[in-house]
Amino acid sequence: MTLSVKRLTCCCSCQNGHVSKVQLHFNSEQCDAVPGASLFDCAELLRIKVPTSCRKQGKCKECLVEITQGMECLSDRTAEESHLRENFRLSCRCKIAKDVGVVRCHTLRRGEMRIERHAFKLPSSGQKLKLDPAVTRDGDRVLLDGIEIDRTSGPIHGIAMDLGTTTVVVRLLNLETGEVVADASIENPQRFGGSDVMSRIHYDTQDKSKLLQRTLVGYLTHVIEEFPVDPKSIYELVVAGNSTMRDIFFRLDVYSIGQNPYQSITELEMAAGRRMTTSVAETAAKLHLPINPRARVYGLPIISGHVGADAAACMLAVDIANEKRLVAVMDIGTNTELILGNKDKIYAASCPAGPAFEGGKISCGMPGLTGAIEKVAIELDGSMRLQVIGDGPAEGICGSGLVDLMSELLRIERMNSLGRFEHGEERIELDAKGNDPIFFTESDINELAQAKGANVAGLQILFQNFGIRFEDLDVFYLAGGFGRHLNVQSSKRIGLIPNIADTKIIQVGNASIEGACIALLSKTKRAELESLVKRVTHCRLETHPHFFDFFVEGCQFNPVESKLETENATS
Ligand code: FES
Repeated sequence: MTLSVKRLTCCCSCQNGHVSKVQLHFNSEQCDAVPGASLFDCAELLRIKVPTSCRKQGKCKECLVEITQGMECLSDRTAEESHLRENFRLSCRCKIAKDVGVVRCHTLRRGEMRIERHAFKLPSSGQKLKLDPAVTRDGDRVLLDGIEIDRTSGPIHGIAMDLGTTTVVVRLLNLETGEVVADASIENPQRFGGSDVMSRIHYDTQDKSKLLQRTLVGYLTHVIEEFPVDPKSIYELVVAGNSTMRDIFFRLDVYSIGQNPYQSITELEMAAGRRMTTSVAETAAKLHLPINPRARVYGLPIISGHVGADAAACMLAVDIANEKRLVAVMDIGTNTELILGNKDKIYAASCPAGPAFEGGKISCGMPGLTGAIEKVAIELDGSMRLQVIGDGPAEGICGSGLVDLMSELLRIERMNSLGRFEHGEERIELDAKGNDPIFFTESDINELAQAKGANVAGLQILFQNFGIRFEDLDVFYLAGGFGRHLNVQSSKRIGLIPNIADTKIIQVGNASIEGACIALLSKTKRAELESLVKRVTHCRLETHPHFFDFFVEGCQFNPVESKLETENATS
């Protein structure tokens, strides 16, 4: 539905029948807005739901909006917004300040975001997991590790959560049947503290009030309250996430993760003999989560450095502890996780790719949700065939569309392997039928090239350290919501993934949430993971002598071949 409201006396502070001229595009709605109207007021008029717990008092910090155009038409930041970075504002504080202009903004996305919520074709998916949760029932007594924490005759539930830098996926399960009851996904609201892990570490280290954690808990509270069960029937929450996201969630000091040698405080404490594991646990009450206050919140163990609990969860999901074949997992995201090996030997690495492949820092980039161009093909006559999520007008382009677009531009030689447009164009317009032009520039390519370069360097170093070539692999799991929707041929052409046989590549979706579910439902698997992470060799990319060479080469748009000489390879 699109409203076109010319007189907004209901949200105009002047109340004088002022005819406004600022065109406000808010999510997929639009209206004319008058000076003095807050963006929250306009959202209410447009029936857009904005998260809030303080009813526009400037206290809860939940009413975040991202301004994508027209910041100059808005009032100056207020004191309540001093914590916000980049283009984020609090919609209850931010007002229209000009008579003329265009403002585009959106609330943090949720629900309809195209995040993969179910894993596919995983070894663990094919086996019936033996239910062995930490939370059990004895009559009406609810036990956590055998100790009574509540009494109820109703169902008992648990939550698995994949806490990503950009997106958060939450799945509610019945702990007695193992069934998924509901799931939800949101953009990580901590984006106001920066789009990558290092920015968040810096932000959280400076901010003693733990605003990143509190804001995330505020958003999670809304998600949990919308689940179709009594929140007090949720007795355990298992968290997978990279080291930084996990530790911020548990209110741990993340300073050391941002400093060489980039280790979580849990890793440092374990090395000093002060703890036995890098996994963490707290009560729900301590973290202010609205589930049963005596519920346990368990953070899966991290592997080492930035190779976090999400990578650990992926290992559970692909059952690498019992795998005889040689497998690799590549979970492409703001931080790309790489795992390589089998039951005998496992290597892992984390690549600081940044948010470009999730639409961040790209002119017309957006996450994979309704309105995103997800597929691109260029016809013989040069016209573009686009596939838009939801089949409506295009609003932007998401990661899989960007990979397709670059692959097609390469194929017809409109872009070269260095990422330059061959015909001197400043930008390439996509033939989208939406309200606004959607275009692609060389500086976008540069962002994507650097993200790709980091991933390729990680792949080369990991395989070289392990002593095998790409083609020696039996299975290459492409994981993560983004990985699920990639076109494999396009990805190989631009050099995003190794140039190996298609039959070895399996797109598995969100393996991290799958692993978190397994850990929630099985104490045995959880214990298996606790010992497995201690056997993983962490390859530190930043200290590798050839990192920069691999990175530079990986920034080019060519198929990626193994750098390990055959005669040096071991089988
Ligand atoms: S509604 Fe709570 S800070 Fe804006």
